[in-house]
Amino acid sequence: MIKIDNLTKRFGSTISLDKVSIEFKKNNSVALMGANGAGKTTLIRSILGYYHPNSGSIAVNGFDPIKEREEVLKDISFVPQLPPPIKLNIDELIGYIQRSANIKREIILDYANEMKLDIKSNIHKSFFKLSGGMKQKLLIAISLARESNIMIFDEPTANLDPKARDDFYRLLNGKQKDKVLLFVTHRLEEVKDLVNREVYMDLGKVVSDEKL
Ligand SMILES: Nc1ncnc2c1ncn2[C@@H]1O[C@H](COP(=O)(O)OP(=O)(O)O)[C@@H](O)[C@H]1O
Ligand SMILES: [Mg+2]
Repeated sequence: MIKIDNLTKRFGSTISLDKVSIEFKKNNSVALMGANGAGKTTLIRSILGYYHPNSGSIAVNGFDPIKEREEVLKDISFVPQLPPPIKLNIDELIGYIQRSANIKREIILDYANEMKLDIKSNIHKSFFKLSGGMKQKLLIAISLARESNIMIFDEPTANLDPKARDDFYRLLNGKQKDKVLLFVTHRLEEVKDLVNREVYMDLGKVVSDEKL
């Protein structure tokens, strides 16, 4: 579903991705690992069409993330490493997601409830005023509600307490069937029941790629 060929991305003199070639197919649930600065987030942002590569190509379901971004994003659920600075309040944000991605409000609220996020008493609070953990829980609830064929999580649990992490892993488990799951993490032991492939990056290259 995702095919990356000889992808290079530079920022000035920094090479963040160095001729990366990798493919993610249906039923691949991948733990993407590597030291800070290895290029994991750059790879993900390139898949999402957020960065223009210097050379090489990416196809997501056959579409180009730059030229056909809308088609690409249609099928991807994504939780970023850092929550975006959204000015909408929770009510407006859920309304927006509901309309733009055609997801039922109740489904988002159900997942939020499972993540122990109290939406009711925060419904008129703006997203950017929520705590880091609350933002992450809401983004996770939205991503789970979307039911996309490609699910990408970039260190989504950094702001979550252990209980919330367990809730998230429990909700995610079983959803990988017929999908691609890319999970950036520093904690393989936490996700090992969720994943069946382990990819390590270092200095902009894929240095190991193993089935579990
Ligand atoms: N927007 C950017 N501008 C400049 N440098 C960047 C940018 N994004 C990433 N980099 C650089 O690319 C390298 C890889 O970063 P990143 O993909 O965030 O690594 P990881 O997610 O594995 O920690 C780092 O050296 C980082 O400083
Ligand atoms: Mg990163």
